[in-house]
Amino acid sequence: MNKLNPGPGGLHEVFTLRDDLGTIGVIEGEQLLSFPVKRVYFIYSVAQGAERGAHAHKQLRQLIFAAQGSFTVTLDDGSQIQDYILDSPTKALMVEPGNWRTLKGFSHDAVVMVLASLEYDEADYIRDYQEFLEWRGR
Ligand code: TYD
Repeated sequence: MNKLNPGPGGLHEVFTLRDDLGTIGVIEGEQLLSFPVKRVYFIYSVAQGAERGAHAHKQLRQLIFAAQGSFTVTLDDGSQIQDYILDSPTKALMVEPGNWRTLKGFSHDAVVMVLASLEYDEADYIRDYQEFLEWRGR
């Protein structure tokens, strides 16, 4: 996997094996899987025009990719905002803790895959933007 684009998160290229039968995408190794995966979740059947996310995490690391279809992830670290278009299973976005994230622009067939460093814990969420800015010390 090669890092394409460092930033508040970071877009990585997923290693792929292509042959006449199809394609295998592989996510492995410490460069990208820099955390032990404690949870895998996926989002699909997203309502047309929906915006998801709108929260930050205090500790959680996530690797996000589009298993199918496309969507846009916006990361805001409290001072810089960057959009990442995930429109291929060959692109994986590393989201570090402390980034306000919004997911939008879902294609009708989008399947969001998330590898996460922690089990679900509501206490790890910041769901209020003002509280997020204060938490970041902005
Ligand atoms: P949330 O993380 O806010 O979803 P999104 O950012 O995609 O809009 O989660 C939505 C709801 O689902 C919320 O009530 C918490 C619950 N949830 C779990 O119980 N376990 C999980 O692993 C996740 C991701 C969410």
